[in-house]
Amino acid sequence: MTLQKGDAVILDDITLSLERARFLAIIGPNGAGKSSLVKILLGIDHPTQGSVAVLGSPPGHHAKRAAYVPQLKTFDRSFPATAIQLVVSGERQAWPARTTAREREQALEALTEVGAEHLADRPLARLSGGELQRTYLARALVRKPELVVLDEPATGVDFMAEHDLNHLLEAYQDKTQATVVMVTHDLAAARHHATDVLVLNRTVVGFGEPERALSDECLRRAYGHVGHAHSGFVAW
Ligand SMILES: Nc1ncnc2c1ncn2[C@@H]1O[C@H](COP(=O)(O)OP(=O)(O)OP(=O)(O)O)[C@@H](O)[C@H]1O
Ligand SMILES: [Mg+2]
Repeated sequence: MTLQKGDAVILDDITLSLERARFLAIIGPNGAGKSSLVKILLGIDHPTQGSVAVLGSPPGHHAKRAAYVPQLKTFDRSFPATAIQLVVSGERQAWPARTTAREREQALEALTEVGAEHLADRPLARLSGGELQRTYLARALVRKPELVVLDEPATGVDFMAEHDLNHLLEAYQDKTQATVVMVTHDLAAARHHATDVLVLNRTVVGFGEPERALSDECLRRAYGHVGHAHSGFVAW
């Protein structure tokens, strides 16, 4: 599959397949095409050449079976809503003016699953970054998706919240056998939590088990070097 925008080749000849019930981490330098690839998986953008199948169908075909956790920085916190309303919006795919008892029950269940039931009636403006992240995760999980796609979910979130997030995803995956695809800059998280790693730099630099895909050789090819920051992070 190839993605071109004007003269620029954004994704070049990407060929790979991922089994269901895997946890894929996508890593690579800024501008490597990670978000572009995620948008294709979600059916938001389309390849210029080649084809993609997600859950056995064209991307976006089974939108209800896939959930997306967006980057935090795009969210306007002044929006006058509570955590539970944000979660119900994931269930409905629309903004709920009022929530029904059933919707509230399901949303509370999802919030409980991510350890955030106490935040249910808290206005979004009064949530910390990590709390908002958990709420977003509950919003994604409330419909029990078979595919969860997260684009840099840990951006702006402190270490503990990030640690919790990775464990929550693992627990959800264990329980439901869902497939998780997460874009991250955290090589340690990729190494410890993912079953598969894609090292991307416009094309596939490495793909497979974390140990193999995160080898010095692949990292050097993707980032141009394996500096202290990277090797230190990997060893951590
Ligand atoms: N609509 C577009 N038209 C032209 N170029 C684009 C368009 N969208 C993205 N690009 C380019 O495609 C490349 C990949 O962008 P993408 O956002 O996928 O990178 P990324 O790996 O997610 O980077 P980051 O780590 O910074 O989030 C970038 O060079 C970007 O400028
Ligand atoms: Mg990106």
